[in-house]
Order: sequence, then C-alpha cells, then structure tokens
Amino acid sequence: MAAEPVNVDEFRELARQALPKMYYDFFHGGAEDQYTLRENEEAFHRITIQPRVLLDVSSIDLSTTVLGYDISMPVMIAPTSRHKLANPAGEIATARAASACNTIMVLSLSSTCTLEEVTACCDAVRFFQLYVYKRRDITAKLVQRAESNGYKAIVLTGDSPRHGRREADIKNKIIIPELKNVEGLLTTKFVNGGGSNLDSLANSTRDPSFSWEDIGWLKSITKLPILIKGILTREDAIKAVEVGAAGIIVSNHGARQLDYCPATISVLEEVVHAVGGKVPVFLDGGVRRGTDIFKALALGAQAVLVGRPVMYGLAAKGESGVRRVLEMLKNELELTMALAGCSSVKDISRSHVRTKHDRQL
Ligand code: FNR
Repeated sequence: MAAEPVNVDEFRELARQALPKMYYDFFHGGAEDQYTLRENEEAFHRITIQPRVLLDVSSIDLSTTVLGYDISMPVMIAPTSRHKLANPAGEIATARAASACNTIMVLSLSSTCTLEEVTACCDAVRFFQLYVYKRRDITAKLVQRAESNGYKAIVLTGDSPRHGRREADIKNKIIIPELKNVEGLLTTKFVNGGGSNLDSLANSTRDPSFSWEDIGWLKSITKLPILIKGILTREDAIKAVEVGAAGIIVSNHGARQLDYCPATISVLEEVVHAVGGKVPVFLDGGVRRGTDIFKALALGAQAVLVGRPVMYGLAAKGESGVRRVLEMLKNELELTMALAGCSSVKDISRSHVRTKHDRQL
C-alpha cells in the first residue's frame, strides 16, 4: 500500500496497523454476525449513479446548511466514543479537524475529553449526543452544560436502550475507562463476567424505559433543537416529527446495536417520504466514498455523518488524519458531482440514482 492513503479504506488499513488489536476491533466492529455491518456498505454498492452530461460544471458548490449553520460540505462528524483510544489528543484533535474543514462535529456523551475541553479548543459548530441515564438529574445537568458551552443541538440516540452484543470486545475483554463527562457522578455496576465492561457500563446506567412520551421532559429542560438518531422506519419517522424533533438521523449505530436491521441507505427514502419535508433528514452508516454521499443526497438526505472513517484518520495520523479523511470525502464528492452534471448540492436529485426498486429501462 502507498505510504499516503488515497481513500478511506486505505486509512482503515493504516489504523489497523497503528492500533492494538483490541482497540481496532472496538472501532471497526459491529454486533453479532455483523450482517448489518457488511450491508451498510454493500447496499451503497447496489445503487448506480445516472449522470447527466454536457452541463456547465466549471465550478462546483458543495456548501450546505444544517439547522441554519453554514458548512463547507454535506458531511458531518458522527458521535463516536473514546477518541483517546485512537490518539492521545482524543476529541480535541477531531474537533480541530472539524473546525479546519468547516463542518459540524457531534460530540459523543461517552467522550474521553470533557465537553468543556472540546468547546475551549476550537470554533467548530458542535452538537451534543445524549443517552438518557436512569439518573435524570445527571442527564439534565449534562444538557445544561452542553447548552451553556455553546453546543447548538442535542442529538438523542434512540437505538440503545441496551448495549449491542459486540463479540470482538467480549473476546478481547476490553476494559474502558470511566466516562469523562460524568466522572465521579455515576455508580456503575461493573460485572466482568469474562467479557468487556462496556455492557455493564451502559446497561447499569442508561434508562431502558425512556420512550417517546419522555421527549416532552427533554424538551422542557432545554431550548436547543433535538435531533433523533437511530430512526429506520416510516412509523418512527412520523412519531419523531409528532414529538417535535428538529431533524432525524437515519442510523443503525454503525451496525453496533441490532444485527439484521436494514442498511441505512436502503430505508432512507422511506423515511424521507414519511417526513414529507417537515424536518431535515440525515443519514449515517457505511459512508466511505464521495459517491456514497451523492447517493444519500439523491435519495433525500440533507447531509451525511461519518463515524469510523474519522476514527481511522485519527488513529492513523491524529488531527491531520481526520482532516485528510474529510478532505478526501469532499474531493471525491466534488468530482462525482462534476461527472454527474451537478454544480451544487441542490442539483442532486432522485433521478440521478437508480436503486433495485426502480424500473430498469
Ligand atoms: C459509535 N456510534 C455512536 N453513536 C452514538 O450515538 N453515541 C456514541 O457514543 C457512539 N459511539 C460509537 C463508537 C464507535 C467506535 C463507532 C464506530 C460508532 C455510532 C455512530 O454515531 C454512527 O452512527 C456510526 O458510526 C455510523 O456508521 P459508520 O460511519 O461508522 O459506518
């Protein structure tokens, strides 16, 4: 392999070489048989792009707006936990890269730098990802800290009432340090039944009874817009709009929760139709190429988020690696748009892609 990676997959390989196996498996792996993990990428491969030719593509505008914030491209950083396991600078390096690329970073609640440290290090627009704890007082405090530290939205993850079964972590007996944002606040019942401590950390602290009816409580404690992450069906998309979500993230948690749930790109259009333009729809899961981003936009996403690609960049080359990954995706999208005849993201339409549901001509 060339010393300088030329695509996201080569960054993945560099990350594999750079990291202890236990940490690479943690970042890379999915749940159980990893069917959905493979599908997240392969479902993109089954969609073709229908280019238009002889159009003026002398200048390409990739900029877009998310919840009113202008960003340089329709690609944001998905919330992923524990960046210090990839690089000692942790989320600070990631946030600085987001800043340099003028895009939005969603900080995971389970970060290894505090939300205050991330605020202090960069001027990127930041959203804060939330799991709701059994201790509602701690959850409320976290939301208030996010708000007073200038985070612009709460991303409520809905797909994790319990921790997914990631067998590599169990086999590696991975032990994860206490979460920085709630250090000393949560008592976790740590049962290391021969496996990783991730299960006990998550399952003894998060509230599995939190449901649609409780979103009103969340709205009552913050003025921030709430995005709901983890939607995969038309029914839940409609509910999310009804409870006042400011946006929806079509996501299966990077295939780390429920195995055999569908690839996100395969259900995007169903969700977009159900939402009917009332709120923006975003997608994450399996985005590895500019062509993937183009396909998601053609099927109705306003922007995508990337999780593992960012972690691979961070593990391979720190802040500059994250920057490089984001730039690569941006450059690939720009070229895809030029070759498909789209000079701005608004030009990308449903007729630019063909899925297996479309009539073959
Ligand atoms: C995640 N994801 C995640 N999601 C979330 O809401 N809170 C979190 O703390 C985490 N942590 C996390 C850690 C790691 C290592 C990964 C790979 C993923 C899921 C993440 O936000 C996103 O949904 C997926 O990563 C998107 O899929 P790709 O881009 O990784 O294929």
